This record gives sequence, structure tokens and C-alpha cells, in this order.
Amino acid sequence: MNIGPYALTNPLFVAPMAGVTDRPFRSLCKKLGAGYAVSEMVTSRRDLWDTLKTSRRANHEGEAAPISVQIAGTDARMMAEAAAYNIDRGAQIIDINMGCPAKKVCNKWAGSALMQDEALALRIIEAVVAACAPRSVPVTLKMRTGWSQDHKNALAIARAAQSAGVQMLAVHGRTREQGYKGRAEYDTIAAVKAALRIPVVANGDIDSPEKVRDVLACTGADAVMIGRAAQGRPWIFREVAHFLATGTHLAAPLVVEVKRLLLDHLLDHYTLYGELTGTRTARKHIGWYVKTLPGGEAFRVRMNTLDDCAAQLNAVADFFDDLGVRMDRIPTNSGTSIGTTTGDERAVLSSRTSRYKNPEKAAA
Ligand SMILES: Cc1cc2nc3c(=O)[nH]c(=O)nc-3n(C[C@H](O)[C@H](O)[C@H](O)COP(=O)(O)O)c2cc1C
Repeated sequence: MNIGPYALTNPLFVAPMAGVTDRPFRSLCKKLGAGYAVSEMVTSRRDLWDTLKTSRRANHEGEAAPISVQIAGTDARMMAEAAAYNIDRGAQIIDINMGCPAKKVCNKWAGSALMQDEALALRIIEAVVAACAPRSVPVTLKMRTGWSQDHKNALAIARAAQSAGVQMLAVHGRTREQGYKGRAEYDTIAAVKAALRIPVVANGDIDSPEKVRDVLACTGADAVMIGRAAQGRPWIFREVAHFLATGTHLAAPLVVEVKRLLLDHLLDHYTLYGELTGTRTARKHIGWYVKTLPGGEAFRVRMNTLDDCAAQLNAVADFFDDLGVRMDRIPTNSGTSIGTTTGDERAVLSSRTSRYKNPEKAAA
């Protein structure tokens, strides 16, 4: 699929996750098979652009194209300025955040809260498209199915966004009200896909190759976006790509390979954040990598007491060396699980597949 002029290598996207999908993590996911990654959101508040946090988020050194930056805010003019600011710093695609439920964002009437005010949402979209069009930068939008169960307006916003010039849309199959609770639903995503000409990306609770296959089939979406299931498991993208291409499962990674990947990830992480912040913010990543490995929980607790890069690197190397004595490959299904698809769910997904082959029926 294409986003504007950019042809993607595959339909497997890394979801934007503030505090997680920084440049080192995005680069790693792309190296391990992701076709596309969106940055963590950058605020539209000009007074915060000079902060270390924002400048790190706007750092794309060595990142493979296309570089996509997500912006968040509530004011159309400020959002247009934020788009221009990020284009000046290397963004090739601008993504508007209407999907994040975080209080910090929503209290300021940004993120998924914008879905409650369709007129304001549209003004923001139009202003950002107007700022990006002269520089041939495509604008994309990420949103939820609506504000609440009684206020599911994804379809209306999607149609308006497409008419305003948005070139790709990602939909998380939950409402703002749900936060991350319950299960993502894919019917609304299928309806949006059926109604639009632009590429539509399905997101929410996708955590295995089979689930990718089933969600693509039941929604008709052009791509999937994976968030939490990639935490500590960036190789999920190559596993999915292999499964979609061959119908068979790739062997789990070797312990020695995961050790190398994590050490390289940490080195890149420290380079971006420096020693103090780097060792602290690396802890969550390390915790995710070892979460389901034997001895992982005790290791995670010990890791929280280490405050310098060398100690952290040595401890990680020792942990994986010890594990390597006991096993060659990490146990299958290791990594973050956000609720693996059950047999019942799979049956429901497959039964919907045929329904969404007929767009009119899906839109009904
Ligand atoms: C820690 C975290 C941070 C997130 N930050 C953002 C963000 O900055 N922008 C955004 O649009 N969505 C954000 N999200 C939502 C994800 O992009 C995604 O829509 C959601 O996690 C559902 O996908 P998943 O089930 O594959 O994780 C975040 C999610 C998590 C867990």
C-alpha cells in the first residue's frame, strides 16, 4: 500500500505509543519487519518545542523513510504550525492524533476527546492539510470508534477527513470511554473501510499472526497496526510477515539473538537519552523483554536497582547467557500478551469475513 507517494514494504505498522515508540524502538521494529512506524505524539504547544522531551521526540537521525510524526493539540492554527515545525525537522508524513485517551491529552481537549467535537476536529484536519499540501506531505489520522458507546461517530469523521484530504486512516476498535478495557471490536473498522477510498488501518488487541490474518479478513483493512504486543517483542513483525507469506510459523528467536537485539536496543536508547534518563527509561523495555521468561520477574525487580549503563548492560548479558545454557530459543509466545485470541473469538472473526466482502452490507 501507499501513503501518498510512499510505497510501504508491507502492511504491518507499529502503533504510536508515547514513552515507547521512540526512535530506537521504531528503528528496531522496522529492522525486524515492520513496514511503517509512527512516532510518539509531539505537542502542538510552541512553548514546549524547546524542551528535551519534545526535541527527543522530533529526533529522526538514521531512521528509515518514510518518517511519520504524530501531532496532538486542540487549536487548528497551532496544529498547522506544529505540522510545519516537524516537516522542517524531517517529517515526511504528518499524523493527527484523535486516538489517545490519556487524561493529560484529553483534559486539554485533544487526542480522542476531539471526536466529541466534529466541527473542531474538521477545522484541525483542514488546517493541517493546508499546511502540508504545499510541501507535498501527506496527512494521516488516527482515531477511535467514537467517544462512547452512544456516540460512535468514526464513520462520519472518517468521511469528512477523506473529503478534507486525509490520505490514510487508522482506527482503534474501542471508544474513548473504554480506554483499554474490554475487547476491541472490528465491525466499525470494517464499516469505515467499506465507506472510504483511502487506505484504512485496523488497530486494537492484535497480538499474533493468526489475529492479523483474521482482522485483515474480517475488516477488509489495508494494514494492521500493532502496539502493546510489540513491547519487548519487536520481532512480532517478522513473525507476522512470515506467516502471511507462507501460512507457517517462524521459529521463536534464539536466546543469543534476543540478547544481541536487546543490547543493541539499549545502546541506541542510551545514545538518545543519556545515562541517567536512559537507564531509567530502559527499565520498562527490559521488563517487557524478560516478562514471560524464566526468572524474568526477579530480574526485572533487580534491574530497577541499577543506575548506570554498564551495570544494566552486564546484567542483561548475564541474564541471557544463563538462559542460553538452559534453552536455545526463547519459549514460544514469550513477550507481552494482551489477551491472545481465543478459539471462540477466532470463530466469530472468521464468520464475519464473508460479510465484509460486501461493502454495502458492512456499511449498513
Ligand atoms: C503506552 C501507550 C502509549 C500510547 N500513546 C499513544 C500516542 O501517543 N498516540 C496515539 O495515537 N495512540 C497512543 N496509544 C494507543 C496505541 O497507538 C494503540 O491505539 C492502542 O494501544 C491499541 O493498540 P494495541 O492493542 O495493539 O496496543 C498508546 C498506547 C499505549 C499502550
